[in-house]
Amino acid sequence: MKIAVMGYGTIGSGVVEVLKINRDKIAKRAGEPVEVKYILDLRDFPGDPMEDKIVHDYQTIVNDPEVGVVVETMGGVEPAYTFVRAMLEAGKQVATSNKNLVAAKGAELIKIARDHGVNFQFEASVGGGIPIIRPLNKCLTGDEIIEITGILNGTTNYMLTKMTEEGADFDDVLKDAQNKGYAEKDPTADIEGHDPCRKIAILTSLVCGKQVDFEDIHCEGITKITATDIQYAKAMNRSIKLLASSKLVGDTYSCMVAPFLLPATHPLCGVNGVFNGIFLKGNVLGDAMFYGSGAGKLPTASAVVADVVDMVKHQHTNIYIDWVNEKMELVDYKASKNAFFVRTTSDRATVEAAFGEVAYVDAVVDGDVAFTTGTMTEEEFEKKSQQIVMVNRIRLG
Ligand code: HSE
Repeated sequence: MKIAVMGYGTIGSGVVEVLKINRDKIAKRAGEPVEVKYILDLRDFPGDPMEDKIVHDYQTIVNDPEVGVVVETMGGVEPAYTFVRAMLEAGKQVATSNKNLVAAKGAELIKIARDHGVNFQFEASVGGGIPIIRPLNKCLTGDEIIEITGILNGTTNYMLTKMTEEGADFDDVLKDAQNKGYAEKDPTADIEGHDPCRKIAILTSLVCGKQVDFEDIHCEGITKITATDIQYAKAMNRSIKLLASSKLVGDTYSCMVAPFLLPATHPLCGVNGVFNGIFLKGNVLGDAMFYGSGAGKLPTASAVVADVVDMVKHQHTNIYIDWVNEKMELVDYKASKNAFFVRTTSDRATVEAAFGEVAYVDAVVDGDVAFTTGTMTEEEFEKKSQQIVMVNRIRLG
């Protein structure tokens, strides 16, 4: 099987490396050797062992009937969408790691692939190297999935862990994560939660079979989390984690991305560093937990190569993915219920006038009044909190 890799960055070069490291195993599992014929990139890579494979025009790949599978690791929606679409329409199978593309165009590309008797697969788009797309699509089909809660961004989990364990500074840990190849090109997508937001939209689309638009999901990142918040978390025997969640409510879903204070007993509390964890509940399965390397070159490439192997084995069979381009209307986030940890400079009388009975937490900084609330809707919390001078608030998990 001759394949092409579009985008020779961190993940694309990882795919080439994985195909080399595990060459024989991959050939055995795919039923034939898998060889890279082209690498599409704007750059030339002089001196690189794959230099002679570099092409700059995607039509070279489209027009070569020998190429059966194409890997897309360029990132971003365009031109990735145009290139992927052209490959599928030319009867080539496509594996991608690109969550931006899958979240925006997944349903459409799945249909185009089906119409052309090929496959569009995207295991690496969520959870890096952790198998989660295939389990949802193929293994958990006897269940109604009632909840997915995940740590779906390696960069921010790495940062929060370092800030917790080493008292490290936000900017320094971000640079470190970027150097290790975990972060997006523009790390705003990581630290503002846009990356896990797209990932939970993809997972929710797969469990409901319809299009969940990430723009409809309430999304908060970790930029407002301070060293003082981390001190409070420790004092409460909790950890701050950026969670992406999706819960079945009637016929629809309540989805959110935000930092949560998790108790030490929560299964996601021990997910540290660049690791991702995905906790899910099925109506008959009960609980299941997926854990592993959620970002980085080789783990993500491992998932892409697994898709390539699957597609080499299914060259003339469409692997059905239940996700159509019909919009799923989500629950308005203001109606979702949470309990909150709050820091304020208002006094206790003002706090109690606004919230009624609360549980106070010993202040770790002078002048702070800190407390936790009972469960209430986001709308109720917003109204009550307007009556106090709030320093920060973090939801309780
Ligand atoms: N920037 C992403 C993360 C890469 O840190 O999780 C994997 O999608």
